[in-house]
Amino acid sequence: MKAIKLIAPAGLDNLKLVELATPGEPQVGEIRVRLHASSLNYHDLGVVLGHMGAADGRIPMSDGAGVVEAVGPGVSEFAVGDHVVSTFFPLWLDGEPTMADFSATPGDGMDGYAREAVVAPATAFTHSPRGYSHAQAATLTTAGLTAWRALVVNGALKAGETVLVLGTGGVSIFALQFAKAMGANVIATSSSDEKLERARQLGADHTINYRREPQWAQRVLEFTNGRGVDHVVEVGGPGTLEQSILATRVGGHIALIGVLTGIAGPVPTGTMMRRQQRLQGLIVGSRQHQIELVRAIDATGVKPVIDRSFPLEAIADAFRLQQAGGHFGKIVLEY
Ligand SMILES: NC(=O)c1ccc[n+]([C@@H]2O[C@H](COP(=O)([O-])OP(=O)(O)OC[C@H]3O[C@@H](n4cnc5c(N)ncnc54)[C@H](OP(=O)(O)O)[C@@H]3O)[C@@H](O)[C@H]2O)c1
Repeated sequence: MKAIKLIAPAGLDNLKLVELATPGEPQVGEIRVRLHASSLNYHDLGVVLGHMGAADGRIPMSDGAGVVEAVGPGVSEFAVGDHVVSTFFPLWLDGEPTMADFSATPGDGMDGYAREAVVAPATAFTHSPRGYSHAQAATLTTAGLTAWRALVVNGALKAGETVLVLGTGGVSIFALQFAKAMGANVIATSSSDEKLERARQLGADHTINYRREPQWAQRVLEFTNGRGVDHVVEVGGPGTLEQSILATRVGGHIALIGVLTGIAGPVPTGTMMRRQQRLQGLIVGSRQHQIELVRAIDATGVKPVIDRSFPLEAIADAFRLQQAGGHFGKIVLEY
């Protein structure tokens, strides 16, 4: 089978196409999946650039979707032919989070899904949404579930609330779509007017170009009659957090997700305290969260926005597109 390996020193030019033995029969509790798609995340980019402490020979990519080819003894949840999608934390099945790193995450601490087949515990996958292509399903593992957990699990989003999404990458576009599907209002920001137009077509009620308006919190307050938003999907980090705090209502919720502007910086703690806001960090979600996400997609019909698809062997070109920030929504690999 074809696979991609990251050869030391890391870097996009060191993503090598290799031929590996096809995995054998699944053992007790395992399934064999013929993988057909993955999707790119900022985290995967960090891995292939060596920012996460690259392991020589690692198969990258946390997201994987495909078809069950064989089922080991004791597996009753899946049958041959089922369409499945991988989970970000194969060991976090349910309950409170216990992980604070990526040591058990495919494509980082262990081999990922840039390969044509895998034998894995059945609990490392869930069913895919009905009617989804493999490429669509592959967008859920990281970006889809992160947006879902931010708004629905942690945020307990209600119809009529207002959500602020920052930029138009994978997580933010999913957040826009879930928020609209659940009857919320959405304010979206982007560096590009063209992308803001596309966000409006997806249902964004208000848009702001954050390049032209670096103090965008003021504009958010205007859009919300001075009140501020109920939830922010904070993918920026230290460079955007102050504006997010100012743009959030008293008692509102900021889902701290991203590191697009860095991994540390000053936080106006006094302002946050006075405004009685909840700042909650999160990393993706549990398998149970993913099962609930798939059920919600089956009910709402939300379909991921896929900007471009690349074959497995063009993985470096796919990452170059992501690095350039030219995409809107998700970039996928299909194989
Ligand atoms: N904690 C978690 O569980 C988790 C899960 C997934 C992702 N993340 C993090 O979330 C962030 C986004 O991930 P992703 O996979 O969605 O990335 P992505 O698809 O590569 O999205 C990047 C987009 O972010 C926007 N952006 C960049 N700088 C910005 C800024 N200063 N203000 C507002 N928007 C900005 C840009 O949108 P425009 O082109 O429209 O300006 C850019 O296209 C990353 O930091 C990633 O590590 C965290």
